[in-house]
Amino acid sequence: MSKEWGPLSGLIGEWESDKGGLDTAFSHSKDEVLASPYLEKCTMKPFGPVDNGKQSLFGLDYKSAMWRGDEENPFHTEVGYWLWDAATGEVMKGFVVPRGITVLAGGTADVNATSFTLKAALDDPQYRIGENKYLAKNASSLSYVINITTGADTWSYDEVTMLRMNEFDEPFSHTDHNTLRRVG
Ligand code: HEM
Repeated sequence: MSKEWGPLSGLIGEWESDKGGLDTAFSHSKDEVLASPYLEKCTMKPFGPVDNGKQSLFGLDYKSAMWRGDEENPFHTEVGYWLWDAATGEVMKGFVVPRGITVLAGGTADVNATSFTLKAALDDPQYRIGENKYLAKNASSLSYVINITTGADTWSYDEVTMLRMNEFDEPFSHTDHNTLRRVG
């Protein structure tokens, strides 16, 4: 797959993990911080170009879902787009978490990069997090950072979402990491 997708080319395809994912979050039902192993399925479909005037973007249309194990429903899902601007090296991941959160995370990378970092924050002028009124009051997403590494038929992420939660005096670090292998 080709150059047009730059550092995103290593993400194109269908992906799965075994139960090697690990989520750390505050569980309201258990009233404690839980580390939950998870398995994941993800599809990334290439598209482009999308032109904004002189800007030309190539992207991936993605969906991902994570399960704690034998539960029928995923405990986390995302839909969105990864985007690459070859002229500036800008990489973006725009997605929705169905808790009522939208994220446009961004950064820069070399065309051949096999690892890169994207960031968003609640108050960033460019790469911003949007959230519903309940979350703004009770569990607000202050910032989001994701490190991505691509390899031969595998890719990994390591992400940290800082939450201001009513249950804690200090910002709480909600973390997730996983490695996926190509299945299509
Ligand atoms: C692999 C990725 C992720 C997984 C598996 C995951 C999973 C979870 C879990 C298990 C909870 C605890 C729910 C509960 O039991 O009360 C939670 C809470 C939360 N997550 Fe995530 N999460 C992920 C990514 C994200 C991202 C990227 C954001 C925002 C940018 C986010 C925002 C939140 C918020 C705001 C809460 C708190 C909800 C509340 O306290 O009412 N999560 N997440």
